[in-house]
Amino acid sequence: MELIIASANAHKIEEISRLLPKSVSLTSAKEVGITEDIPETADTLEGNALLKARYIYERTGKDCFADDTGLEVTALNGAPGVHSARYATDGHDHEANIDLLLRNLEDKTDRTAQFRTVIALIIDGNEHLFEGIVKGEILHERVGAEGFGYDAIFAAENTNESFAQMELDKKNAISHRGRATAKLIDFICLQ
Ligand code: IMP
Repeated sequence: MELIIASANAHKIEEISRLLPKSVSLTSAKEVGITEDIPETADTLEGNALLKARYIYERTGKDCFADDTGLEVTALNGAPGVHSARYATDGHDHEANIDLLLRNLEDKTDRTAQFRTVIALIIDGNEHLFEGIVKGEILHERVGAEGFGYDAIFAAENTNESFAQMELDKKNAISHRGRATAKLIDFICLQ
């Protein structure tokens, strides 16, 4: 089975392709000629995941999926949430995003947070949503050099390390994206 992933993020494609069974061949949007930034203008993760998947489906007519992720911090009423990529600036400036988040948490005692991923799958023209959540807390400073985004300041529940200290397979086993992808795979395998 061939699935197009509506993403240009090499880290994300690598994480997801490691999880998929060999029977699924993953093609990036770029490989099917879609190189422009796909609009993410919805105000929820579900809305953005659907926007991106529909964008690919309308142009290719092929089975595809998209994911959208947010880091939801309790003391900030769920921010940065759907705005996680553009929290500090208009671009995807991960370092500036981390700096802003640490500043906004300086006077807070509750540092609990969760990563939430929503995957929208379009298969044979039908839409399906899958959610994955990992709970944890925001560290006081960056730790570790792996991963991307907010990995260096997020420690998942019951672990003693940040996501940026983990091998990819270990992160995938407990992460928001890993959990949402596991649901996607279960669904695909039943098709
Ligand atoms: P996206 O919707 O998957 O592109 O994620 C939006 C933003 O959330 C990214 O730009 C990252 O800042 C952050 N993010 C998403 N997934 C992860 C992750 O696995 N680790 C750390 N940050 C992430």
